[in-house]
Amino acid sequence: MILLFLLPLVFLTGVSAVCPDKFLLFKRTPTAKNNFTKEYCLGFVPFFDMNIREDARSVCAFMESSLALPENQQELDALIRLKGENKSVAVDGEFSTRCKAKFYREDFGSGTNTVFEKGECNPKNDLFVFDDRNTDTTFFKNNFGHTGLVRSGYNGIEIGGTEVKLYRNPSCVMMGPDGRYEIEHCDLNPHDNKPDTIRTYVGALCGVHPRYPK
Ligand SMILES: *[C@@H]1O[C@H](CO)[C@@H](O)[C@H](O)[C@H]1NC(C)=O
Ligand SMILES: *[C@@H]1O[C@H](CO)[C@@H](O)[C@H](O)[C@H]1NC(C)=O
Repeated sequence: MILLFLLPLVFLTGVSAVCPDKFLLFKRTPTAKNNFTKEYCLGFVPFFDMNIREDARSVCAFMESSLALPENQQELDALIRLKGENKSVAVDGEFSTRCKAKFYREDFGSGTNTVFEKGECNPKNDLFVFDDRNTDTTFFKNNFGHTGLVRSGYNGIEIGGTEVKLYRNPSCVMMGPDGRYEIEHCDLNPHDNKPDTIRTYVGALCGVHPRYPK
């Protein structure tokens, strides 16, 4: 559907943009916030255990792409259709290390969530950092629901009669089956080397500039 819609545009410019196999081509409004990107390819790369952020990042890098996000509702709708039902995938975005540190210091275990309420660590401000420079994240930030930001846990380590709490809070952005964003642990639990995510992540959403073959 989207491809059919975009084909005339591509035709008119006289240069056909080529995306990786099964990726969709989107026309974007170039601004300073998306590195003046006019056209962008987004698609899912299937792979196991994509809750492990370094693996998801690597899977996109292998395609010379980057973890990515949809930039508007039209892109999101098309990607939900492309993704298919019941699939959860890794997408771009994770908590900044500074907000994680602030949260561990101030809120962890207190049952409150005040770090995320206002200022730097509000989701609409600078809670998230992103890999991809070619996507304006405003649409994501405006759509991100505040629920499920915190699912706290820690591994207690006994040292000389004192328990040191090694905190772990989910901090990586994922897309659930219905296209809604969720926050999950970015790696395995070091305590037992097992995933402690709510869902199973079967792919990564990757973005790359199209090629323009002569
Ligand atoms: C910004 O866009 C240009 C193409 O217009 C691309 O070559 C460059 O790699 C992009 N920068 C980043 C950081 O992706
Ligand atoms: C999605 O999951 C539901 C509940 O687990 C199941 O009934 C349904 O058949 C699944 N759909 C697909 C397309 O796999």
